[in-house]
Amino acid sequence: MTSTVNGFGAASSPATVAGAGRDGHLGTEAARREHGRLGEGRYRGPGSLEEARRSLRVALPEPSSRFSQDDEWCVVAQPDGTWSEFRFHDYHRIFDVPGLYEKIFYDVLGCDTPRFMADLFADALAGTREDPAAVRVLDLGAGNGIMAEELAAVGVPHAVGVDILPEAQAAAERDRPGLYAHYLVADLTALDPTESRRLADHRLTALSVVAALGFGDIPPAAFRTAYDHVADGGWVVLTIKDAFLAEDDTSGFATMISDGLSSGALEVVRRERFRHRLATDASPLVYEGIVARKRGPLG
Ligand SMILES: C[S@@+](CC[C@H](N)C(=O)[O-])C[C@H]1O[C@@H](n2cnc3c(N)ncnc32)[C@H](O)[C@@H]1O
Repeated sequence: MTSTVNGFGAASSPATVAGAGRDGHLGTEAARREHGRLGEGRYRGPGSLEEARRSLRVALPEPSSRFSQDDEWCVVAQPDGTWSEFRFHDYHRIFDVPGLYEKIFYDVLGCDTPRFMADLFADALAGTREDPAAVRVLDLGAGNGIMAEELAAVGVPHAVGVDILPEAQAAAERDRPGLYAHYLVADLTALDPTESRRLADHRLTALSVVAALGFGDIPPAAFRTAYDHVADGGWVVLTIKDAFLAEDDTSGFATMISDGLSSGALEVVRRERFRHRLATDASPLVYEGIVARKRGPLG
């Protein structure tokens, strides 16, 4: 690690500290207990999310160092001026600090993926007679609710969140209260019948999985369970790193998705390659965004 600070600021601002103020970010009591140094903060509920986000200071490793996507990390300034390391995939710690998820991935690394995918979905819906307000989405890997917020912005208000982390649910309720009709903390590779019925009660007609497949996050089996809870004729809105769709992929996603496409279970309506975000060395991470109709079960 170095003290080099290269905040890309949505990929355009000067290479300096990404954030202002030294006394801003703070987490829950649980976070304070766990990390010791997270003290008093400014966060006063959802209205203050932007302020919490602005007041955070985040620094990346030197751009010449390369990390695989599941090993990326940054450091975050504590109120006392010291810096703590956060691994990007330690979502439970990141969600505990209001605004930190948005700060790292949106403000510093230039992610805009939920908005991009919600727009792609809205375009696909516009080519049908379906009323967006009637779509009922299962948002898998929901995190703190950014995708549900973007879906609501394009007129799709009914979302059920699923995430494996209780910290994600807590952050969604803290930062974007009222967005989800229901938020289930569950592992979809071992969904119990009560949870499954609960999802079925929502009569889901779409599945969104944004920035959450692969890399030790959502495995193919969990994706399949979510897919099985969506009605035939419904929609699948997903992003996946291009490498997971390549011929040499070993995650299982390439086979599952290419089999789904060739069998006709998945009918692609929109498919785009796009820059999901920057890596910490400023190289682009290229993903595929797919909007498809579910025409049958995955093999
Ligand atoms: C990068 S975040 C994306 C959050 C959200 N979709 C967004 O775009 O803002 C990945 C999310 O996937 C969740 N996740 C990881 N593994 C999971 C699993 N097996 N089942 C459900 N959620 C999982 C994480 O807890 C995290 O909230």
